Amino acid sequence: MSIPPRFLDEIRGRLTLSDIIGRRVNVQRAGREFKACCPFHHEKTPSFTINDDKQFYHCFGCGAHGDVIGFVMQHDNLSFPDAVEMLAAEAGLQVPKPDPKAIEKAQKAKDLHDLMDEATAWMQAQVNDPVNKDVHEYLESRGMNEDIRAAFRIGYAPADGQALRKVLADKGFSDVQMREVGLLKDSSRSGQPYIFFRDRVMFPVCDRRGRVVAFGGRILPEAIRPQKDANFKPPKYINTADTPLFDKGRMLYAESLARQAAREGHTLIVTEGYMDVIACNKFGFKGAIAPMGTALTEEQILSLWSMMVDENKIPILCFDGDNAGRSAASRACERILPLLKPGKSARFAFLPEGEDPDSLLRNAGPQGFKAALASALSLFDFLWATHTAGRDLETPEARAGLSKTLHGEVSKIADPEVQKHYRELVRTRISEKFFTPRQNKNRQARPAGDTPKLKSAMRLRPVLNRKNALSQRILLACVLNNPQIYHRIEEEFGRFHIDAPGLDRLRQQIVHALIEDDTLDFQALQGHLKLLGFEQEMHDILNESVYVHAAFARRMASDSPDEPQIVENWLTLYAELCGHGENRQVRAQWQEAFATSNEEQEDRLRDLVRIRGSE
Ligand code: UTP
Ligand code: MN
Repeated sequence: MSIPPRFLDEIRGRLTLSDIIGRRVNVQRAGREFKACCPFHHEKTPSFTINDDKQFYHCFGCGAHGDVIGFVMQHDNLSFPDAVEMLAAEAGLQVPKPDPKAIEKAQKAKDLHDLMDEATAWMQAQVNDPVNKDVHEYLESRGMNEDIRAAFRIGYAPADGQALRKVLADKGFSDVQMREVGLLKDSSRSGQPYIFFRDRVMFPVCDRRGRVVAFGGRILPEAIRPQKDANFKPPKYINTADTPLFDKGRMLYAESLARQAAREGHTLIVTEGYMDVIACNKFGFKGAIAPMGTALTEEQILSLWSMMVDENKIPILCFDGDNAGRSAASRACERILPLLKPGKSARFAFLPEGEDPDSLLRNAGPQGFKAALASALSLFDFLWATHTAGRDLETPEARAGLSKTLHGEVSKIADPEVQKHYRELVRTRISEKFFTPRQNKNRQARPAGDTPKLKSAMRLRPVLNRKNALSQRILLACVLNNPQIYHRIEEEFGRFHIDAPGLDRLRQQIVHALIEDDTLDFQALQGHLKLLGFEQEMHDILNESVYVHAAFARRMASDSPDEPQIVENWLTLYAELCGHGENRQVRAQWQEAFATSNEEQEDRLRDLVRIRGSE
């Protein structure tokens, strides 16, 4: 679709960028600009700025940058034409239809949407027709009262395979159109066209804008269904196949409702089917959503994350607690692992055996369901549980086997940052679980020269949590000397706050320079910063007074094999500086280093602590 640039300017001009962004993330005014925690990377301190005058946003942490259209595309996961159309509507503008072909195509799609809407309305009305009294009763008996029926546009398709066809024909729709959306089929015997959904409860499926694009049709219970042939067992559900409007692998049932609910702060709850989503909604779990008769696809997982506005996007997937449910969970986990990103994960809730959310809500009430959700396992805990359940892990060989399996799973994670944290978690968990207090005692009783010092260093932990000027200088010096590591620490470096304002400005300029050109070497980078007036600041930190505490801040050869180690040192020191929880990891690593007599590791950790202790 080609849209005249003038029209795009018009959209940008009519909308206030901070308004549009403010509806999706929490923004705060900061002088003439606005600030927010960047929705595109994981951070707790805002480095995302919005400038309404210049009509762009910029994240100093991750470099995300763009205008209102780019924001909506990336944040709401919309294509360019969809984003333009949505924003145009918001700005009270009509997207110009440039060429007759596009007009024709748009008209055709609109006609098909109208057709689906008419069909849905008619099927909804059938529920209230006195001749379908037993259908009405059935729906009520399953908790689908009038409000729920209206919210989900639940309907009934009568047994007569020509009724809807005639209704739609009277409204001017052709058989061709009805075939196109999957409502009409040609009988293989008579060749006569007939309506695909007959004598079924109808669940319309809406796209993310709330337009009906497909249907799921559920069979009626036997008691109210005429038994034609005892041998023929019709399928419980029949669903619209893929059509120009509907892509089963991409869409989710109740997507537009759940998207809205997610914006209002509800957790997304992925269930298996139509009835579960409806029951969840009835009891106030409005983030319920479901794939339609298939396992979650990659696109659906990405779509779930795109709906969530929280910094941490963690939908809960519900499974039956039986074996089939567990293997379904394992398959979902396999699918998700490669897709994990900072701040994006999933949790796994196992319901009591034989229950789905619908039945659990009926049998145990909302409290029972809530309890099942609250005990959902994190993705890591699920992996851990899967691979430790029923295994004898008494011998070192068995534990090594477990470690190998878990690291194998973790290697499926494509994102290096997330993978790194998972690897750490595997190590910590194994040492936490299997590092017994007795071993610990033996180790500490060993008359190793360094041990008492280490023990007192450990007691210094509260002090270690404080922000430390020296650590900040080390981290900065390391990047100034080794800009080639920047891409590995980009996120942390972006949200890393330095107390000394001059040095923090220096840090920001480093981010700027390396976002522009990440191939800069240390000379080019330092030269550039000198031109910007940071000579004194650089002089203050690039010297022995810093290096003596941390050799890794020195410059290394650009092709040095030590690069991963430097990155690791950098990240460990950074994590320590932040002090949130990572201290536990340092401690656990320490235990592990002791246990395995890894002196190198011990030294590194000791250095870190010494730095902290000397402030
Ligand atoms: P369920 O059998 O659990 O159905 O199938 P349900 O929606 O909970 O309905 P009730 O409670 O039995 O009335 C789960 C989902 O699997 C798909 C549907 O999307 C259904 O919602 N399905 C099931 C089919 O596509 N075809 C089938 O024949 C059965
Ligand atoms: Mn069910």
